[in-house]
Amino acid sequence: MENQNISIEDMANFCKRKGFVYPSAEIYGGFSGFWDYGPLGVELKNNLKKFWWKFHVHNREDIVGVDGSIITNPKVWKASGHVDNFSDILVFCPKCKKTDKIDKHEIKKVKCDCEGEFDWEKSKEIKQMLETNVGLKGSAYLRPETAQSIFINFKSVYDNSRGKLPFGIAQIGKAFRNEIAPRDFLFRCREFEQMEIEYFVDPKEKFPYELGDNKISIFSEDMQKNNKETTEISFKEAFNKKILKTKWHAYWLEKEYLWFISLGANPENLRIRQHVSKEKSHYALDTWDIEYKFPFGWKEVHGMANRSNYDLNQHQKNSQKKLKVINLNNEKILPTVYEPSQGVERALLVFLFDAYTYDEKRKNIVLKLHPQLAPIKTAILPLVKNNSKIIKISKDIFNELKKDFNIVYDESGSIGRRYSRNDEIGTPFCVTIDEDSIKNKDVTIRNRDTTKQKRIKISELKNILTSLIKKEINFDKIK
Ligand code: GLY
Repeated sequence: MENQNISIEDMANFCKRKGFVYPSAEIYGGFSGFWDYGPLGVELKNNLKKFWWKFHVHNREDIVGVDGSIITNPKVWKASGHVDNFSDILVFCPKCKKTDKIDKHEIKKVKCDCEGEFDWEKSKEIKQMLETNVGLKGSAYLRPETAQSIFINFKSVYDNSRGKLPFGIAQIGKAFRNEIAPRDFLFRCREFEQMEIEYFVDPKEKFPYELGDNKISIFSEDMQKNNKETTEISFKEAFNKKILKTKWHAYWLEKEYLWFISLGANPENLRIRQHVSKEKSHYALDTWDIEYKFPFGWKEVHGMANRSNYDLNQHQKNSQKKLKVINLNNEKILPTVYEPSQGVERALLVFLFDAYTYDEKRKNIVLKLHPQLAPIKTAILPLVKNNSKIIKISKDIFNELKKDFNIVYDESGSIGRRYSRNDEIGTPFCVTIDEDSIKNKDVTIRNRDTTKQKRIKISELKNILTSLIKKEINFDKIK
């Protein structure tokens, strides 16, 4: 799990070369901020989404899912505040000749980092929402966040699920933002995918969980303003010291940190950072990001806002529909919302960077992805092509295993070349069939990360692979 300091451009090239991600419409020169996923990319992305859903929805009793439309009634975006607030102001500083981005509420109030006065005459508002036309009704928006389809359906979903607080609604789906300067490969795109939860709580109710002792590097607003260094602290301690203001905020930050770790992220490359007041979105009371140490610096990979009851309140006012629910004291309330908000592309980058390894001995890249994320779980490799018995056993194994796993069959090239091809794309295990397989009914299984090999019975192969992929057993312990 070492980040080998390859640049984001190197990563983009690697992803293109191996069929993970291509620039969209490359044959026409591409289209800035848009990307297409290739055969390996789509598998990796689907695995990532599947395990996010499992961790956050199927493994919990308090969260259910929805799948909202990308385009909805524009009144939603007026009520949510996006129409009025979701824009960047582009400003120019005549002193250092740099262009910068500021928030609307900072117009004529802030100076450039070089202390120069911005030229306010030249400032320009860039709307962040992309517009489209719908039938004869005129313009509508491509959603800039999946969150609003959750808020507008909150009451129905809560009632259908016989919900009680705390209660969460999750969604995975596309979102669109008119970024002024898309950059850094998948990091800042105009079309992207979000995995979001709106988690509704009654802040007066007792917090039902224990905070854990997992430690993370933390960078609060106060530390940033006073030029202090980050410090390592547990989520529990960060709450006890009032750095994290609520237990719910600490709880969800810890959960999301653990989600990253559970799929192979290197903890040393993660930290949490509080938004300073000028960064906060119009709906946020307090926001913390999980940041990752990219080759281009520490950057947000997960946003966790306390949205209070801002959105439900806005929709209740604007739609004139009652959105309150009953709490444990039989009072009608608009719950407070915590929002774990994850960009799929940014998570992909985290796992790709932490998996990318150049192996000096093997003289090739080894993509040490968690087996659950790996696009291809196993390659079935007959050692020789010209032995019909070996080919028959290999094809039988392939046909059996493909019912359960995404696997490949490959008989072309030397065995070394076939191993390295699979190492580069992250295939965690290769299965080789040779002469001995005919009489012994066994195969060799090879571990991508160590190149160690074990001989196992064909009859046990499926069970062993299942356990290895889930990391329920250690490769070295296989008998
Ligand atoms: N829903 C939060 C965000 O999109 O940033």
